[in-house]
Amino acid sequence: MSVYLDFNATTPVREEVLDEMLPWLRSGFGNPSSSHYLGRAAREAMEHARSRVADAVGCEPREVIFTSGGTEANNLFIKGLASSLPPSRISISSIEHPSIAKPARSLTRSGWSLHAISVDENGLLDMDDAGNAFSEGGIASIMFANNECGVVQDIRRIAEMAKSGRTWMHTDAVQAFGKIPLDFKALGVHAMSLSAHKIYGPKGAGALIVDGRLPMMPILEGGGQESGLRSGTENVAAIAGFGAAAEIAVSRMAALTEAVASLNGKLASALAAMGAVLFSRNVPALPNTLYFAFEGLDGGTLVTEMDRAGFSVASGSACSSGATEPSSTLLAMGVNPDLARGAVRVSLGEGVVDEQVSAFIAALKSTISRLSGMMRRLQA
Ligand SMILES: Cc1ncc(COP(=O)(O)O)c(C=O)c1O
Repeated sequence: MSVYLDFNATTPVREEVLDEMLPWLRSGFGNPSSSHYLGRAAREAMEHARSRVADAVGCEPREVIFTSGGTEANNLFIKGLASSLPPSRISISSIEHPSIAKPARSLTRSGWSLHAISVDENGLLDMDDAGNAFSEGGIASIMFANNECGVVQDIRRIAEMAKSGRTWMHTDAVQAFGKIPLDFKALGVHAMSLSAHKIYGPKGAGALIVDGRLPMMPILEGGGQESGLRSGTENVAAIAGFGAAAEIAVSRMAALTEAVASLNGKLASALAAMGAVLFSRNVPALPNTLYFAFEGLDGGTLVTEMDRAGFSVASGSACSSGATEPSSTLLAMGVNPDLARGAVRVSLGEGVVDEQVSAFIAALKSTISRLSGMMRRLQA
């Protein structure tokens, strides 16, 4: 069995969550749009989940639009809002997930101008550049926490700036949810994306939290489910699981943060002692995430060797694993492409214990010295 240290890619479904899902896959199979008993029961389960998600992130239940996950929520925000506005400016950070960066780029084909706001060497947003970007109005999307380096932006301040520039502001909170407290109202954003499978819920469920003032259009049209913004018969079991996972995530967040932050600190010290370059240190960042590289060593090779040694970690972001290009996030942070090719991400989560982190450190040490030895022999 491998030691799983890739919780930013996905998380296992909690047993309690699975227990709440299974009835809706067995006897409770009704269509929530049906008016008979089975339909009403399914609808009630969905509305219960909607209230739980709303409570978890500080919004009204009617502001929760269930989607198939973070990717769809991000696409719904960008495409759904852009299609109801005259083309103007879309501003995103230069380190967004592809599910924001790609639809934002697509808008340029229909007359929108894209501004990718720069970040500093730690991934923090350049506030002057953001101010310039927002001064033209339009749409903005700035991620709350980055999936690779874990940097956390000051979304409340950024939302204030966006509002003073009369810009509709969204945040992709997929990685932040369950790791740092979220309060939709207090943040002052107009929309926010969430995903269930990053918080020990099932894959295939997520939500776009939408302020009712947003002039949104659907991207999926049909039966008019989810206040007309997301047609299609709902994935009731996954949505019920999402509701349960959201509630549990909030109740266990403080304990989980404490546990992973201490293991992360231990790992960071060991990596620094081994000569690793650590990215996004000493800035606000996710407590469970460590992103690092060893000069001259390929990240993909390290991940493969660590997998052989029984540890699951990621090179670059999980979604772009397999690609040989260096991480665009690191390039945007001004990291040298050769060093960026070495990037490895460790992301901790529930159930990871001290002995596993010690074993990982020991295995990494011997792998690094073996690979460095091979490199030296090749260069000789
Ligand atoms: C920051 C961020 N946004 C969006 C997504 C996409 O979410 P989903 O996998 O639910 O489509 C991910 C997943 O890796 C992510 O890390």
